[in-house]
Amino acid sequence: AAEGVHAPRIVLVGPMGSGKSTVGGLLAERLGLPYRDTDADIVAAEGREISDIFVEDGEEHFRALERAAVRSAVAGHEGVLGLGGGAILDEGTRSLLRGLPVVYLSMDVEEAVRRVGLGAARPLLAVNPRKQWRELMEARRHLYEEVARAVVATDGRTPEEVAEAVLDAL
Ligand code: S3P
Repeated sequence: AAEGVHAPRIVLVGPMGSGKSTVGGLLAERLGLPYRDTDADIVAAEGREISDIFVEDGEEHFRALERAAVRSAVAGHEGVLGLGGGAILDEGTRSLLRGLPVVYLSMDVEEAVRRVGLGAARPLLAVNPRKQWRELMEARRHLYEEVARAVVATDGRTPEEVAEAVLDAL
């Protein structure tokens, strides 16, 4: 996808809890544009929660639904777009992001544990959150960096500060 009138103005990627939807909402407000996120698009289209899709149909099926959601969002949304934390795992999804103003909201392990919590309701962090987080980030960090035009560290920053840094970074 190329940047243009029908492309999102800002695309946010990063792990769960990095503040994509909060920061995305603030950015949308600042720019006077709508916010959209692919997790919500998938839930609306499927009529079931993401955790149910994972349990009933598996992660691979979810990633395919997510790729389709990203494809239609990048083609038909001119505002701020937030992606699910694992969207970048899919090669097809990564290629849809090429040329777009993608910002990676990064977060260190301790901040993640503080924000997402230890008894996380997130299916990927159920057993040993700190260790699982490290493994998740080792597998994903280079993919976030690959798709991103800019990286904004969120550690110790408020959503307002992060939004400001995103605008400065682009
Ligand atoms: C996932 C992150 C979630 C959601 C799904 C899988 C992941 O999105 O897409 O539970 O693999 O990291 P958020 O990053 O919005 O929580």
